[in-house]
Amino acid sequence: MRFLLAALAILLVPNIYAADFTGHWLSVRKTADGQTQETSLWLKADGDLLTGYLTGRDESEPISEGKITGNEISFVIVRDEFGNERRILYHGAVTDSTLHLQQTHPDGWQSENTYKHISSETPPPLPPARAKITLPPAATVPYNGLAKTPPMGWNSWNKFANRVSDAIVRQIADAMVRNGMKDAGYIYVNIDDTWEAGRDAQGNIQTNSKFPDMKALADYVHSKGMKLGIYSSPGPKTCAGYEGSFQHEEQDAKTYAAWGIDYLKYDWCSASTVYDYHSMPAVYAKMGQALLSSGRPIVYSLCQYGVLNGPRWGASVGGNLWRTTGDISDNWRSMSHIGFDLQLDLAQYAGPGHWNDPDMLEIGNGGMTDTEYRTHMSLWSLLAAPLLAGNDLRDVSPAILEILTNKEVIAVDQDPLGKQAKRVAKDGDLEVWARPLAGGAYAVGLFNRGASSAKVTARWSDIGISGNARVRDLWAHADRGQATGKFSSEVPSHGVVMIRVEPESAH
Ligand code: GLA
Repeated sequence: MRFLLAALAILLVPNIYAADFTGHWLSVRKTADGQTQETSLWLKADGDLLTGYLTGRDESEPISEGKITGNEISFVIVRDEFGNERRILYHGAVTDSTLHLQQTHPDGWQSENTYKHISSETPPPLPPARAKITLPPAATVPYNGLAKTPPMGWNSWNKFANRVSDAIVRQIADAMVRNGMKDAGYIYVNIDDTWEAGRDAQGNIQTNSKFPDMKALADYVHSKGMKLGIYSSPGPKTCAGYEGSFQHEEQDAKTYAAWGIDYLKYDWCSASTVYDYHSMPAVYAKMGQALLSSGRPIVYSLCQYGVLNGPRWGASVGGNLWRTTGDISDNWRSMSHIGFDLQLDLAQYAGPGHWNDPDMLEIGNGGMTDTEYRTHMSLWSLLAAPLLAGNDLRDVSPAILEILTNKEVIAVDQDPLGKQAKRVAKDGDLEVWARPLAGGAYAVGLFNRGASSAKVTARWSDIGISGNARVRDLWAHADRGQATGKFSSEVPSHGVVMIRVEPESAH
């Protein structure tokens, strides 16, 4: 009999665990400056069915398709992201009342969180969704006169994420003066997310312990002949969960001006939890106007991932640049997809004072070859993209520095005509991109996205050039003589040959 009971218990093990899933599961995460962020998972198990909801820092979201299999669970959270349905898949397993939960986003991005079972209470009813604010249509914000050419500088996020600090920013500014980055035109030193603390009794935004004195830091960066950038969100929280500018827009713009800030990246993040997202242009116009009224010239960078036709209205809300995609990663797949596939048809929105932003550079972060980084630099320059280095400039190899400071390629990016390149030819993995330059010349990129070396041909007729033209190779720093009708070159796998083409008729 005892044996039978034991066997039965073993058979029932999955169900014993299943019953355990009901209740409150809590995940506590420490931020870089010692604050805590909590996420609650409220679950109800009913046989092998699982229901409940997830309460993050912003709002509660019901789970669907919840299933229990032994000590494992799976469910889906369906989000409406700017009019598109987005399914986030969750899968977890319990060991010793700890739930290891992995989430997978539709683009393949994964993260894991650990939850503790803190009570077996049945979930209280799902809190009602907050009413969203709808703003009247955006009023046009006048152009601030800045960024006549695409901004150049450095941003902390790609390399340092939440580890950025006052000391690192100073060291980066020093390094940029020392290693030629500043002389090559990289002027902005931009602090991304995680500098923020809460607000004082008057509502003034505070810096956290990593940034003891923002004004002193700005003074330091200015003393080097460079400019300082900062980051915020129109929502209550930034993407990394720090204090955002919601309902403090003018106050924050004044604070930035008083500190001596020269550049603001304004990242949508949690703004959808408080605003109807159709109000996005008006939300961005609010800060655009606040920056103008602050009395200090501050470059305004919109970070809303290109949704809701952002490039079409970015300039009218005061934006000098606007992101056109989600976040870049330091690998060929991400960089080439963003640079080649997601920038088509956007050239018409770029021009002096307002630029498409395919995200910051990954050059030097280690996930791509030098050949691929040259492609990254060439493509971004052809696209008239902001050039914001994202690597550790305190310790950078000569090869990477040479890529970032190639004056002939930078001159293409910074060309005063401000015309973004278009793809003029595509033959499988081989692509030709071209942009007109001031004075009648053209910059042309011969790209090979394929796995082996190939001959790529740029035809003058595709670019709009007639007759003879002089060709200069901008990576070899060598003249290639006259070419009639076309220019061909062998291009390595994932590589580029970037040329400047001067039609004879331009003289
Ligand atoms: C978003 C942005 C990134 C970076 C992070 C910071 O993901 O797109 O560029 O600013 O937020 O949290």
